Amino acid sequence: SRSSTKDLLLNAEKGGYSIGAFNVYNIEGVQAVVAAAEDQNSPAILQIHPGALKLGGLPLVACCISAAEEAKVPIIVHFDHGCSRTELMEALQLGFDSVMVDGSILPFEENISFTKQIAAMAHAKGLLVEAELGRLSGSEDGLTVEEYESKLTDVARASHFIDETNLDALAVCIGNVHGKYPANGPCLRLDLLKDLRAITLKKRVSLVLHGASGLHAELVKECIELGVRKFNVNTEVRNAYMESLQNPSGDLVHVMESAREAMKAVIIEKMQLFGSSGKA
Ligand code: G3H
Ligand code: 13P
Ligand code: ZN
Ligand code: NA
Repeated sequence: SRSSTKDLLLNAEKGGYSIGAFNVYNIEGVQAVVAAAEDQNSPAILQIHPGALKLGGLPLVACCISAAEEAKVPIIVHFDHGCSRTELMEALQLGFDSVMVDGSILPFEENISFTKQIAAMAHAKGLLVEAELGRLSGSEDGLTVEEYESKLTDVARASHFIDETNLDALAVCIGNVHGKYPANGPCLRLDLLKDLRAITLKKRVSLVLHGASGLHAELVKECIELGVRKFNVNTEVRNAYMESLQNPSGDLVHVMESAREAMKAVIIEKMQLFGSSGKA
């Protein structure tokens, strides 16, 4: 059934687990997430980023919404990484349950005013708002320590950012990256996460961690204990899909079915890891 993002995150907070938000691009992706969620009796978030929305348009959003409505478990539909006003204004018309306002490339004060403005419009429509503070990059290779640290979420700023923007969920940068982690593995600043959690808990804001692909089980568990309630997963599911397509066997329906099953298997693993299995 279609749920509200607020309920999913509140239940995760009460239960001390986390919800997986999986980027989807097409029908197979949507079906993989819903089938995994039903298999695991888990809530889940279907999310679409601007690139996928540009390709799939309203039909992709409609596919997510109808799949959510028909699902035997709570599912919500989220707009991921809305970076421009135009994109976000469009997303507000398309029927998403929540949106991410990503002003993280803007200077701090501009990020505040951008996020605040969009958040007010989203809230007026009853949507939940996620926003990001700090900078997440594709790869941290070749950065100086100063450059690396300047990208991390600052605790005092986070507090001010939450108060000013009225956001519901905060995406933090603690060394997490989109895509692959460097060869020596992910290095997350769990001490910083702990400090950020103290603030978000007090302000009743949910903690979100992007770049969950590539985080090993131990680290994911520590993040959940430290309050992360939504993990964004894109690369690992997408890679499973693309690898499956590289060895096509049988007719097209079979090829698509195999690709869907490959995604579903990765998603099931993540739901078990995030602790959302059995929580529908
Ligand atoms: O939504 C995710 C971002 O667009 C980047 O993810 O690093 O897997 O391409 P990616
Ligand atoms: P990964 O590609 O590392 O899983 O990150 C996904 C993400 O943060 C989507 O917003
Ligand atoms: Zn992301
Ligand atoms: Na990642």
